[in-house]
Amino acid sequence: MTSSTSRFLSFVVMVALAYHCHCDPDMLQDFCIADLNATTVINGFPCKPVSQVTSNDFFFNGLSREGSTANIFGSNVTAANVLSFPGLNTLGISMNRVDFTPGGINPPHSHPRATETGVIIKGELLVGFISTSNVFYSKVLKAGEMFVIPKGLVHFQQNVGSGKAQTITAFNSQQPGVVVVSLALFAAQPTIPNTVLAKTFQVDERVVLDIKSRFGS
Ligand SMILES: *[C@@H]1O[C@H](CO)[C@@H](O)[C@H](O)[C@H]1NC(C)=O
Ligand SMILES: *[C@@H]1O[C@H](CO)[C@@H](O)[C@H](O)[C@H]1NC(C)=O
Repeated sequence: MTSSTSRFLSFVVMVALAYHCHCDPDMLQDFCIADLNATTVINGFPCKPVSQVTSNDFFFNGLSREGSTANIFGSNVTAANVLSFPGLNTLGISMNRVDFTPGGINPPHSHPRATETGVIIKGELLVGFISTSNVFYSKVLKAGEMFVIPKGLVHFQQNVGSGKAQTITAFNSQQPGVVVVSLALFAAQPTIPNTVLAKTFQVDERVVLDIKSRFGS
């Protein structure tokens, strides 16, 4: 290889690295309203024909309603992702609304495909995440204050105020995905062997059975 060829190849590699996108793939047209019923399987969803696209495809009122917090965690996530709002397809963006009863928690979870940012709309939330070095970063936030959760890291929010709390979050993915740590480990089906969880948490299998029973398995 000549030195000019090798310089050219290094340049190509540098450009490829510089343009690597830390988000969903870029789009190839103005929009692509998801046809959620399409039988073709691709990375994302096929577009419905432009001739059938209307203004309604670009608007969504699902975040205007408070979710019911009458559940074990005392919180409710209302998702505006590509599944509920097909207009987001290929645009690399989505949002959630999370409502909390006093003491309610959006339990430790991670989003494998997105960085998250959020603004507190109402109440007081303890927001925290854990880095891959197991450092815990956290702060109590009030209305108007924001947070960011780097992509993939385990995080939570808990209502530490005396009234209800609400946050609106945004993601750089049309479908960030969610892994709720407690549910993944203790409510997966088929169930994870008790011996695995007992050894993992250094507890007796009875403790594992007790935790599993609280998540209905
Ligand atoms: C998908 O199917 C559902 C149920 O049959 C229907 O209500 C909806 O309008 C369909 N959506 C599209 C984009 O065709
Ligand atoms: C969240 O709220 C919606 C609307 O009230 C409700 O249908 C849904 O079951 C709730 N989810 C949970 C996990 O409580």
